[in-house]
Amino acid sequence: MSDQKTHSILRDALLDFFRNHSDTAAFDPFRGNMTGCGDDWVPTPKKELPVTRFLEKAVESACHESHDLLLLFARYSEKLKWEQTYTQGKDSIGDDMVNGYGFVEIIGKWGPFVSTQVRAGIGLFAPNVNYPMHYHSAEEVYCLLSGSADFRFDEGLTRRRDAGDTVYIRSMRHHGFRILSSPLAIFYIWQAGDLREKSTFVE
Ligand SMILES: [Fe+2]
Repeated sequence: MSDQKTHSILRDALLDFFRNHSDTAAFDPFRGNMTGCGDDWVPTPKKELPVTRFLEKAVESACHESHDLLLLFARYSEKLKWEQTYTQGKDSIGDDMVNGYGFVEIIGKWGPFVSTQVRAGIGLFAPNVNYPMHYHSAEEVYCLLSGSADFRFDEGLTRRRDAGDTVYIRSMRHHGFRILSSPLAIFYIWQAGDLREKSTFVE
């Protein structure tokens, strides 16, 4: 199967998941840009990361609504570009996160489906990883596909979120999270601001 076809299958699955999710309030701010993203495709180089060893476990633990979506990413994992935004030593993240996180972008500024308005894909985290408090100008929504995490916000608020839950984060809001004892898989969407802005850490 061609890379374009693989990416198309994953994009359509993400858009279906987005359209059919019951938490319409969390997704509403993103609806215009997500439904308006087009078919402009560019190739992206394949890249593996250590965190992909947790994909199988994440599929096993996925909630009912997320299982098929996550299974597709696991099936095609070796054909995808697994990325990290942060660099060991340069950013405020620990070894646990460097060795235990990654994401695959399907819609975004750098493709494979090119959008200047929105970025969307899935993120994967190893158990017990701490994602330190950070912020960015884009507004963001996470939908947890598998696993659980304790989210922290700038007001001192902490909220546990599980597979199936959504977390909306407005522009510049400080946020971070710690993954519990299973791998965490999320579907993420960003819009507004620089779609490839590097987050600023605050701890
Ligand atoms: Fe964020």
